Amino acid sequence: MNLKLDLKGCETFVGEKMFEKYVEKAVEAHKTLMEGSGAGNDFIGWRHLPSETGKELTDACIEVVDRWKGMGVDLVVVIGIGGSYLGAKAAIEALSHSFAPYLGRTEGPQVVFAGQNLSEDYIAELMDLASGRSVACVVISKSGTTTEPAVAFRLMKSHIESRYGKAEACRRIVAVTDKARGALKTLATAEGYTTFVIEDNVGGRFSVLSPVGLLPIALAGFDIEALLEGARAAEKALGECSAQNPAIRYAAMRNALYDGGRKVELLASFNPKLQYVGEWFKQLFGESEGKDGKGIFPASAIFTTDLHSMGQYIQQGERILFETVLTVASARRSVILEADGANLDGLDFLAGKRVEHCNRMAQAGTRLAHIDGGVPNIEVTVDGLDEYSLGELFYFFEMACGVSAYVLGVNPFNQPGVEAYKKNMFALLEKPGYEEATAEIKKRL
Ligand code: PA5
Repeated sequence: MNLKLDLKGCETFVGEKMFEKYVEKAVEAHKTLMEGSGAGNDFIGWRHLPSETGKELTDACIEVVDRWKGMGVDLVVVIGIGGSYLGAKAAIEALSHSFAPYLGRTEGPQVVFAGQNLSEDYIAELMDLASGRSVACVVISKSGTTTEPAVAFRLMKSHIESRYGKAEACRRIVAVTDKARGALKTLATAEGYTTFVIEDNVGGRFSVLSPVGLLPIALAGFDIEALLEGARAAEKALGECSAQNPAIRYAAMRNALYDGGRKVELLASFNPKLQYVGEWFKQLFGESEGKDGKGIFPASAIFTTDLHSMGQYIQQGERILFETVLTVASARRSVILEADGANLDGLDFLAGKRVEHCNRMAQAGTRLAHIDGGVPNIEVTVDGLDEYSLGELFYFFEMACGVSAYVLGVNPFNQPGVEAYKKNMFALLEKPGYEEATAEIKKRL
């Protein structure tokens, strides 16, 4: 595995002996996770997704890619929320040209997302876009009952059926869902959609390396074999129950910092393509650890952008933060600053230097400034923004999250708290079966 972890920026905050104690706890937690003897052990199928995903599944994804290419599809609407959305979105954003939609140039059909909100404007504008394009849809929901994607799918299904007729709509819609349960499974079977299965033992936020992530990533034109290859390298390396395992060390340091009063982890990157990796990370750790009155609050930032908004707080605000900086070792492109005769902006001293050099110096300077300001610093480095490195990264954070939550003493694989808003929403929407709750909640408005 090429991914590297650097904990030197925590040395002045967590003493060596203290850290070793947490490493011991994390080794135990890793053992529990690998043996499958911990809480939520019916949801740990993600551990072996990379090694157990064979050509059959990747070929089935490619079959959909080819089918839709053959049909001239130029817009794929991927419908899903939470774990059924963020992994694919993160990978596609990280791998795509920053201005792909404006250039009109993408690796495959343009992939857009829906069902991740209930905004009427968003859905109306999505329909505007779809109307002028040859459109297909992937609907993803493990439970098959989540309201946001179900609403978006109802509208998109009707749009596709009215434009292309029922028979062709069936070729333009693919479902990714549970193998037996849920309204989406029932609907997909009744309509005859091509269907991909999310295994029972893989929870939403740990599903990016299943068809939930693989199919949309393949549709966007990226190499899912390479993604899995990177994840396989990580699965092998991070399966080792040793004090040197970087996932174990990261989990240990997070918990040591948390117990020392660092309640917020800021995942920062100096590359805007990683913004959605930050969103994916927040869901992974937030939903896995934030329960029983415990858990690090995961936040994310893109530097240097956010140094001009959040930088002041990070440097001098309440000392509850630590930073995990996600570094990409090499930029994909090279842009060199040139000398300018007049030098009115005073930047001629940078002539001949790459923009990436400035970014690196900003990163090094920020790291030291934040450490001096009392912010412990962890660094996770991947080789490049490519499929292989992302595969490593996804798996690294998943393994670290499972281990870290066990050290914290919570079940990483449930999310009982997410139900509270749903119950209220259904009561307010007057869903049949919620009559009593509807009457109660209306009194509070
Ligand atoms: O991590 C999770 O389990 C959740 O975030 C789910 O992915 C999210 O709620 C969507 O659920 P579903 O795929 O069942 O529609």
